[in-house]
Amino acid sequence: MSATSPRAAAHDFDLAWLDLREPVDHRSRSEDLGRELSRRLGQRTSISVLDMGCGTGSNLRATAPLLGPEQHWTLVEKDERLLEAAVARLCTWAASAERSGGRLVLNKEGKRIAVRFARADLARDLEQVLDVDADLYTASALFDLVSDDFIATVAAEVARRRAAFFTALTYNGVQRWTPKHEADAALASAFRSHQSRDKGFGVAAGPIAPALLSAAFDEAGYTVSEGDSGWHLSAGDEALTEALAAGFAAAVRETRLVPDVKLRDWLAVGRSGALVGHTDTLAIPP
Ligand SMILES: C[S@@+](CC[C@H](N)C(=O)[O-])C[C@H]1O[C@@H](n2cnc3c(N)ncnc32)[C@H](O)[C@@H]1O
Repeated sequence: MSATSPRAAAHDFDLAWLDLREPVDHRSRSEDLGRELSRRLGQRTSISVLDMGCGTGSNLRATAPLLGPEQHWTLVEKDERLLEAAVARLCTWAASAERSGGRLVLNKEGKRIAVRFARADLARDLEQVLDVDADLYTASALFDLVSDDFIATVAAEVARRRAAFFTALTYNGVQRWTPKHEADAALASAFRSHQSRDKGFGVAAGPIAPALLSAAFDEAGYTVSEGDSGWHLSAGDEALTEALAAGFAAAVRETRLVPDVKLRDWLAVGRSGALVGHTDTLAIPP
């Protein structure tokens, strides 16, 4: 889920939150869709990839193993702190890393991964950012934040280049807490209204983003597949579950649709688990 994230400031993503969610994101990604991505694109000896809203580079760390031996990534992010963290995290993740001509060149499990970092505001400069002739346009945990128009533009620009598209971990509206609480439904309803709030891109698509993505690429003649990447949080995931509940309650509080006393009562419950629905989307050109 992207939209309930604890944030450093409005529309800014907290580094600690991204670190906390990364292992759960990686284990939750749809294996079927990953295999399909690998089958379709993994045979190419060289591939160029654009990652939108890269955060600290989690999507690269999860997706690069599915692709071929020579990869050229452009990581786009508006937050300078996250780009700096991305460099550090990728250097730690790789077996070796060196700077070369403004790029970071990583070696990991027999793959050579050249990474360029671009600071850009996707909400303002989307078409310019997409204008890189990538073979694959990708993102993770981004598309529920963006607007219908943003999704339409991405699909149109990707289709114009006959490139492939893959996005992981788009929130799809499913949310269940363990144990249940009598206020769950009231909070869920308030949260739904928060989901469509502007996250910097205009009215957010929220949980209908996966459907909008599929429809837009389907319309462009792409072969679209979806996979389930829901978070199943249980024992061992306490820190993420707690942060998630706090972020969820903060979003609900902002709507003022649930009385504070009810919210406090809901927050007082120790949660042992949660299910947060996500969808992965792969679109292959005709
Ligand atoms: C939920 S985080 C996901 C980060 C990363 N893709 C991951 O999976 O960990 C959403 C990311 O989109 C970035 N973002 C949000 N609005 C943006 C914009 N207008 N331009 C560029 N990046 C943006 C945020 O800074 C954040 O890093």
